[in-house]
Amino acid sequence: MTARPEPAGFTVDYLIEAGGRLHGRLRVPGDKSISHRCVMLGSLAHGETQVSGLLEGEDVLATLAAFRAMGVEAEGPFDGSLRIRGAGLHGLRPPVAALDMGNSGTAMRLMAGILSGQVFDTVLTGDESLSRRPMGRVAEPLARMGARIDTAPGGRPPLRIHGGQRLQGIDYRLPVASAQVKSALLLAGLYAEGRTQVHEPAPTRDHTERMLRGFGYPVSTEGATISLNGGGTLTGCAIDVPADISSAAFFLVGAAISPGSDVILEHVGINPTRIGVLNILRAMGASIDELDRRMVGGEPVADLRVRGGHLRGITIPADQVPLAIDEFPALFIAAACAEGQTRLAGAGELRVKESDRIAVMAEGLARLGVETQETPDGILIEGGGLGTKRVAAEIDSHGDHRVAMAFAMAALRAGGRVRVRDCRNVATSFPGFPVLARHAGLAIRTAGPD
Ligand code: S3P
Repeated sequence: MTARPEPAGFTVDYLIEAGGRLHGRLRVPGDKSISHRCVMLGSLAHGETQVSGLLEGEDVLATLAAFRAMGVEAEGPFDGSLRIRGAGLHGLRPPVAALDMGNSGTAMRLMAGILSGQVFDTVLTGDESLSRRPMGRVAEPLARMGARIDTAPGGRPPLRIHGGQRLQGIDYRLPVASAQVKSALLLAGLYAEGRTQVHEPAPTRDHTERMLRGFGYPVSTEGATISLNGGGTLTGCAIDVPADISSAAFFLVGAAISPGSDVILEHVGINPTRIGVLNILRAMGASIDELDRRMVGGEPVADLRVRGGHLRGITIPADQVPLAIDEFPALFIAAACAEGQTRLAGAGELRVKESDRIAVMAEGLARLGVETQETPDGILIEGGGLGTKRVAAEIDSHGDHRVAMAFAMAALRAGGRVRVRDCRNVATSFPGFPVLARHAGLAIRTAGPD
């Protein structure tokens, strides 16, 4: 069973009956990070790029719409298939209006890098959530490369990017472990004179580097330093996008917390920079097997089999935090179902995601009877509380897609029916989530807000 999109354009709540278990073979939609990068590099390449397995979520569609607005021709996506006729690095045309990046921080930050190298001006806008997120982290190093970017006060969107600047390569030490900032600088580096060199404080997802190489562009990775020279060209290619481990995470956790569950998640990307969720769940005692490991378009892929069982609380190892950064909403639910305490530190980045994920998760967990203590950069979760309150619970996702899906899975162990409010943004990363979750055994339905 694969996911099918829901109609967009309205607010939706999830209603989930408590209990149950998950089973079956499932394929979650394509990887969001890789899908954005396919559209970007395919648009900047010479020749055609044929993508299969593309995520047709709103975030990726916003990136595609931006390139179409700059004259790139593309057919699709139809059923995950997209054909892009690349414009070349210097073939984009000025858009007639601002480019709306919707909910997507990845789109805005990576596009800032690309657009800094163009000869024309652009404006990047976003929705309410994106408009609160910090963009100084890309605007500041891009300015050091010679870009001219105006932000709203506090380094927030919208971004006004002035074209026609001469970019110079830089040597930059990332102050936070961020693949988005690294990628923005490497993409600007394509347009820069000389060498652009980025040092990471900890490994972050390396899809940009892998995909640049797939498009024939030399990128060097030596330890924590990634570098490239400007002035090369990208050559269109074929890309098969693996299923998104960040979307698979909800089913991994859902199955792990409900005894008797047995799920196989097909064709999941298991890039070493993304598998923190597997490492953390295994450390908590979850049974996860990697079946049929293979390489697909430069990325490692496997089918993941997960079975329900007993979890125990842990102190999450610091080195796993950047490798699981998007999976903490789901992992917090696993922690709430585990025996003992789970401690997370060094994860202040969670406060500047689509919502403040530490505060928003703590608020929702309290509604389910789970005790937590927030810290500025983490949380302590008391396991075992979930399900002790035998009443219905109402949770506000605050418009955060991953919070919404995490609490939907929490219902498997809740003491009463769960209503999750404001779930529309699930369509940004996981179109068809309720349908696939229902197929797997979650008693979920959608309803309008009452
Ligand atoms: C992403 C990088 C991460 C992640 C985001 C996707 C990417 O953000 O949270 O969902 O595709 O590069 P940061 O780079 O801000 O950590």
